Amino acid sequence: MNRVAVVTGGTRGIGRAICERLKSDGFNVVANYAGNDEAAKKCSEELGISTYKWDVGDHEATLAGCQQIHDEIGPVEVVVNNAGITRDGTLHKMSFEDWNEVMRINLGGCFNMAKACFPGMRERGWGRIVNIGSINGQAGQYGQVNYAAAKSGIHGFTKALAQEGAKFGVTVNAIAPGYIDTDMVAAVPQGVLEKIIAKIPVGRLGQAEEIARGVSFLCAEDAGFVTGSTMSINGGQHMY
Ligand code: CAA
Repeated sequence: MNRVAVVTGGTRGIGRAICERLKSDGFNVVANYAGNDEAAKKCSEELGISTYKWDVGDHEATLAGCQQIHDEIGPVEVVVNNAGITRDGTLHKMSFEDWNEVMRINLGGCFNMAKACFPGMRERGWGRIVNIGSINGQAGQYGQVNYAAAKSGIHGFTKALAQEGAKFGVTVNAIAPGYIDTDMVAAVPQGVLEKIIAKIPVGRLGQAEEIARGVSFLCAEDAGFVTGSTMSINGGQHMY
């Protein structure tokens, strides 16, 4: 039977490309999403995968959602923590809510998914967790103390959990995407985005499929010796 892979925020952008790639790799892919029913329906129909709706920042909802997937589809063997939001603004304009929502969803979501799925992986002796961090968690970014802190946290979370999973056959890795051609990046003011693209040595935004390729590598059967690593996929913008 094909291994079940859950991709959070999997119905749009990078997450959707990850779902498509993992499906073509032979996984039984399930996409989680939080809000956009229309995009979820389209994704489900076009990719032929199941979608489950809940907020990954909500601990109880995440435990319940993953239990439902376990009961209806099978034990979750791969988790891709991709769900994330931005609430950009300089610190002096940032509200506590902007800070807290980004921490709750982007970083809290990783903890919640791991709490739901890591124990089963540990018991079965096999698992793959891939956390989507960011170049802005590595290098920082003007106007993103919340997002940079959460993404940086994801990189620390990855290294700590990798140590706990290692002797149980559970690998935990991160990918740090640069600026990728998605709705999230399209929301950056045009003038600001142009200046950012000018600093990318490859000379363009990345494509979601280029991140999915990295996830595919990390989830493979023969990737068991790769754990605790961060794969930067950023067109050379930050070499770390
Ligand atoms: N470094 C230094 N100064 C900067 C700067 C930077 N990177 N960006 C903006 N500034 C300066 C501006 O030049 C401006 O200065 P002046 O008033 O002297 O001209 C001042 O800061 C204010 O800039 P804005 O007019 O843009 O101010 P704002 O309050 O309207 O917006 C902002 C501020 C929200 C930070 C906006 O500039 C912005 O959205 N920046 C982009 C942030 C960004 O890169 N987000 C990434 C989103 S995508 C993502 O996060 C995915 C991923 O993982 C990569």
